[in-house]
Amino acid sequence: MKKNTKLYETAAALLETGKGILAADESDSTAGKRLSMVHLPNEPEHRRNFRELLFTAPDIEKYISGVILYDSTLREATKESIPFADVLTARGIVPGIKVDLGTKDLEGFKGEVVSQGLDNLAERFAEYYDLGARFAKWRAVITIDDEETPTDAAIKMNCIMLARYAQIAQASNIVPIVEPEVIHEGDHSLERAEMVTTRTLQILFQTLIEYKVDLAGLILKSSMVLAGNAHSEQTTPEEVANATLRTFHMSVPHTCAGIVFLSGGQTPERSTDNLNAIAKLGEQPWPITYSYSRAIEEPMLKAWGGKPENEEAAKEALRATCERNSLASLGKL
Ligand code: 13P
Repeated sequence: MKKNTKLYETAAALLETGKGILAADESDSTAGKRLSMVHLPNEPEHRRNFRELLFTAPDIEKYISGVILYDSTLREATKESIPFADVLTARGIVPGIKVDLGTKDLEGFKGEVVSQGLDNLAERFAEYYDLGARFAKWRAVITIDDEETPTDAAIKMNCIMLARYAQIAQASNIVPIVEPEVIHEGDHSLERAEMVTTRTLQILFQTLIEYKVDLAGLILKSSMVLAGNAHSEQTTPEEVANATLRTFHMSVPHTCAGIVFLSGGQTPERSTDNLNAIAKLGEQPWPITYSYSRAIEEPMLKAWGGKPENEEAAKEALRATCERNSLASLGKL
């Protein structure tokens, strides 16, 4: 396999010790859900202000190595007309782009879905690269329901899509983040979450290797392994940490550049505490850190409340959240 050092440099920058990745890649409609938390209508101007607060908060570059953007945000600029990608790059933060186009039902497989977006992906990557993006994300969704769900067939189809996306990204000098999100909603046990996540990651890495994806230029974005949010027994940080690392050791080759976590609807506090417990278990074969969306944005949104007079407080709340997650990624909380 030909080595692409550009990919390794980007991956190393994203996985710098003590830093994580902010996922600010909500689609325009999901951004509306964030704005509704602060009683603002889902209009382009408010979405722009929300992103501008995130990307201009002082000192976040100490804790954030990269930001994942959505197509319209990568094309958006500050009030002073500086493109968001340039604002981030100037701060030493790598801009990234979410490229899957959401999910569609997988016919014949109840409740299972497959992600869309492979058409014209090479052309899209060429444009995204010109706009400043150096890494990307593709999210697949794996839901745990009855004993039958998820099926291997649905997992395999999603993994083939992830592998094809990763091939095209690497050929475009863009580091792929592969994200098979095992959904936290449900009443499944910790044991079941561990089984499903292990199986999913085993199939994923088998497929990536089969299709000659360079794992040294690829980042895994994973769910933490924890019982479903409606399960009677909730998982302690120590249980999450042990189950999550057991899963990775059973499935993630050591050549993979690194692993980042999504927060998956856990509270900001819980996401941070679980990360801290994972880091406390000591050095692993891969760098491991955070790539949260909701768990980073929620405290900032609360402090902002959609009011201009609270903008500085909102930026400080964001900085403080990133600092806590940075400390958690080092096991120092
Ligand atoms: P959450 O941290 O809100 O789960 O989002 C992370 C993400 O990028 C999901 O695709």
